[in-house]
Amino acid sequence: MEQMSRIYLDHAGATLPSEAQIKEISENLMKDVFRLGNPHSRHQSGETTLDIIKQVKECILTHFGVNSEEYSVIFTKNTSDSLKIMAEIVLNIFDKKAENKKLLICDDSHTSVHGIRHQLTNWKTTVKLFETITSKKNVDPFDLFILTAMSNFTGKKYDKNIIIKLKESNPNILICADLASLCGTSPINFKDFYFPDFVALSFYKIFGYPTGIGALIIKKSAKMEKFSPKGFFGGSVNFYNIETGEFILKENFEEK
Ligand SMILES: Cc1ncc(COP(=O)(O)O)c(C=O)c1O
Repeated sequence: MEQMSRIYLDHAGATLPSEAQIKEISENLMKDVFRLGNPHSRHQSGETTLDIIKQVKECILTHFGVNSEEYSVIFTKNTSDSLKIMAEIVLNIFDKKAENKKLLICDDSHTSVHGIRHQLTNWKTTVKLFETITSKKNVDPFDLFILTAMSNFTGKKYDKNIIIKLKESNPNILICADLASLCGTSPINFKDFYFPDFVALSFYKIFGYPTGIGALIIKKSAKMEKFSPKGFFGGSVNFYNIETGEFILKENFEEK
């Protein structure tokens, strides 16, 4: 009776984990606490962890109907973090030529999507009602479009065919799909989103625990090869000269 006294409805924010899931996770950890370790460390626990991460990434991609030849999975804190990193990558790819670049977002997007306009400082941002874009015969050319697959506010699912329409005006447009809300309730295949360049999502909206984990999933393409981060982080360099600051990044895109 005590258990029934509260009703949880905030599954859009973060869903609840199942008891079976928590039980299995803790049993798994209790069996051998030395099994897992820092995946950048070259010892058995580190290597086992790296191997598990690779397998999990493959499972995630399979879940969305693609594979690691086509997409890279980058673990993030949440969708907001994924969108922030996406904007950093976009700025990096376009570099200084970004003056005339244009971002399109729909009014019914999450605040973390609207916030991107302040990251892309040199860009012109247009915020439109979804219907006003789809009703127009010819759409203005844009360089980046962030599609909210399902609104967290209204629960409305938006028509993915808008991507085709935008690509008719600019075949090189980058598409970012915000799947945060949709992925917790519907099976998703990237094919249905015309294989977007970026996908942002939060796992705790799908399975509740662990919290604080999401992903930025990036299509492997010539455009992404241009990405060259300004600095480096733990595990992202092959070589660093502590005196000169000179460094060599890892070659693999998702490790940079
Ligand atoms: C559509 C949409 N985008 C982005 C977010 C932000 O997700 P998070 O709080 O996990 O960063 C949410 C959260 O509810 C959302 O529903």
